Amino acid sequence: MIVRGRVRPPGDKSISHRALFVAALARGRSTIRDLLGADDVRATARVLRALGVGISPVKDGAAVRVEGRGLRLRAPAGTLRCGNSGTTARLGLGVLAGQPFAARLSGDASLSRRPMRRVTEPLRAMGAGVTDEGGDGLPLTIRGGSLHALEYASPVASAQVKGALLLAALTGGASLTFREPYRSRDHSERLFAHLGLDLHERDGVIRFQPGAAVPPFALAVPGDVSSAAFLIGAALLARGGELVVLDVGVNPTRTGFLEAIARMGARVERVNLRDEGGEPVADLVVRPAPLVATTVAAPEIPRLIDEIPVLAVLASRAAGDTVFHEVGELRVKESDRLALLAENLRRVGVTAEARGNDLHVRGTDRPPRGRIDTARDHRLAMAFAVLGTIPGAAVRLSERASVAISYPRFFADLRRIGEGGRGKGEG
Ligand code: S3P
Repeated sequence: MIVRGRVRPPGDKSISHRALFVAALARGRSTIRDLLGADDVRATARVLRALGVGISPVKDGAAVRVEGRGLRLRAPAGTLRCGNSGTTARLGLGVLAGQPFAARLSGDASLSRRPMRRVTEPLRAMGAGVTDEGGDGLPLTIRGGSLHALEYASPVASAQVKGALLLAALTGGASLTFREPYRSRDHSERLFAHLGLDLHERDGVIRFQPGAAVPPFALAVPGDVSSAAFLIGAALLARGGELVVLDVGVNPTRTGFLEAIARMGARVERVNLRDEGGEPVADLVVRPAPLVATTVAAPEIPRLIDEIPVLAVLASRAAGDTVFHEVGELRVKESDRLALLAENLRRVGVTAEARGNDLHVRGTDRPPRGRIDTARDHRLAMAFAVLGTIPGAAVRLSERASVAISYPRFFADLRRIGEGGRGKGEG
C-alpha cells in the first residue's frame, strides 16, 4: 500500500466520556464539539439521560449540547446499561457514589467480566454502599450520599479509578488525596483544573477539594491518539507515501506509542502544536520506515496501554524480538488481549508468546496469512486489519463490526488513505 492524504481521527474517547460526565454536573448548558460519535460514548450519554440529564443526539460531526443539572442527578427508573464501556461503568460509579439514591448498573458479556472492585473498594471507603451479585463485576447496585474524605494510594495505575474517585469527591462533597504506582492519563485532572476547580498535583500526589460549582463550558475534543495509532501503524508499514493525521491529542500521558515507535525507527513529526481546553493538540506527519524491535518497560505501560495491540502488530514486522513487560492489565480489557494477541499473531505465522505477565513478539518478513479471532474487541480488529494491509497479506477477521465501539469510520478511513496512493497510479 502507498499511503497519502490527510485524515482526522475521531474525537478522543477518554476526553469525550469525561466531558459528558462533567457537563452533566455543571448547572446550565455546555456545548461539546467533535465528541466521539461511537457506541462507548453513546453508552455514557444513555446512562446520563436516565439520570435526568438532557443531551442532544451523539453523532459524528454534530456539536452536542448537555443541559447540566448541577451536582444532584435524578434517581433512574431502571437499570443503567453500560454496554461494552468500562469507562461508562467506572466513572458512572464515581458520579453515583455522591448521589442520595440507589442505582443498578449492568454491562454486556465482556464488561460483566471486568473487575469493578478496584473502583468500588475505595468508593466504599468514602462511604458509598455497594452490593454486587456474586462476583467482582457488573451487575451491581450502588447507593450513594454525602461522603467522607479519602486519602488513597491505588494499587493499579488506572485513569478510570482515578477519574471515578475524583467524580465521587466532586458529587459527594469529600476531599480526595490520590496517588498511583505510575502516572495514568490525566484528562480528569486537566478538565477539573481547566474549569477552575480546586485540583493540584505535586510529585505524583493529586489533591482535590470540592466546594466550587462546576461552570458550564464549551469544549472541542481533540482527535484520539489511540485511534490515530492504527492509521500511523498502516502508514509505517506502507511501501511509500506520506500521511498527515490532523488534530491529534498529544497529552504526554497518552504518547507512549509515539515514543515506542520512535525507538523502533519511525519518524513522526509533530507540527502545528496548540492547546484545546487544557489539552495539547498537534498534526502528525508520518512516513513509512523500516522498523527494529524494542523493549517496553513497565512504567511506560499506562501511557500506551490501548496501543499495545497495534504495537504488537508493528513488532511482528520489526527486526528482532520485542518484549512488553508487565502487561497483565491486558487480561482485563475488552477481551483477554494478552492471550489473544499472542494467539492471533501465531495464527498468521508470527512467533509470539505470553510469558507470565510479559508479551514476546518476534519480527518476520513473511506475509501474514490466517484467520483472526477478534473476540469482538475493537482494538484487536483494527490492529489486525492494519497487518492485513501489507503486500502479500491474507488476514481474515472474524468480525469487523466491533470498530463501532471507538472508531466507526475506521475501515473507510483505512481504505481512503490507501486509495490516495492508488489514485496516482501506484498501488
Ligand atoms: C481509560 C483508561 C484506561 C484505558 C481505557 C480508557 C479512561 O483504562 O485502557 O481504554 O478513559 O480512563 P484503565 O485506566 O483502567 O487502565
